[in-house]
Amino acid sequence: MTANPRIRVLFDENTIAKRIEELAQQIANARPENLLVVAVLKGSFMFAADLIRALHRVGLAPQVEFVHLSSYLDGTVSSGQVTILRDVESDVRGRDVLLVDDILESGRTVTFAKDLLMARGAKRVSTAVLLEKPGKRAVSIHADYVGFTCPDLFVVGYGMDVAHSYRQLPFVGVVDHGNQDPDLFDKP
Ligand code: IMP
Ligand code: MG
Repeated sequence: MTANPRIRVLFDENTIAKRIEELAQQIANARPENLLVVAVLKGSFMFAADLIRALHRVGLAPQVEFVHLSSYLDGTVSSGQVTILRDVESDVRGRDVLLVDDILESGRTVTFAKDLLMARGAKRVSTAVLLEKPGKRAVSIHADYVGFTCPDLFVVGYGMDVAHSYRQLPFVGVVDHGNQDPDLFDKP
């Protein structure tokens, strides 16, 4: 019996770690000045923690802020509305901001956060997402830095949850609810 018998790994720890080093290098190549990282809670906390340390390794010294946004009422169905549960504390005026989120799906969350920070006077807001699900966009937005393209499945782990569970997993995987492609799951 394994600890997580019904979870199929999509992106393992090593794969994620290597990709984050590449993203950090790309971000450094854009030569951001006075960089402020704004991580969108809760889902991005693990990605942000690893990305920020990778940014340090490539010679950047970002300040770090958090905004807690909610676009899901519960479960896996989007409410379509984004609300601020906790706002950033720092003044973003004139700053290069890197917005960090876990996953770009409809695009509403990242668009909301980007518009908010631009409206507050940020000089530039670029976006880094660990995953993007193509073909799901309801709002036209393009992330500047993307870890991986993700199949159109509800994923968990590496900070991401379903009903508050699985955030602790060090990898990204898919939970078998019995209504997703059976070929993606480990056979007993
Ligand atoms: P969007 O606003 O539709 O782009 O959704 C983005 C937010 O929904 C992300 O920040 C996640 O928190 C959440 N989300 C979207 N898809 C998934 C998923 O497959 N697993 C877990 N969270 C997800
Ligand atoms: Mg989120």
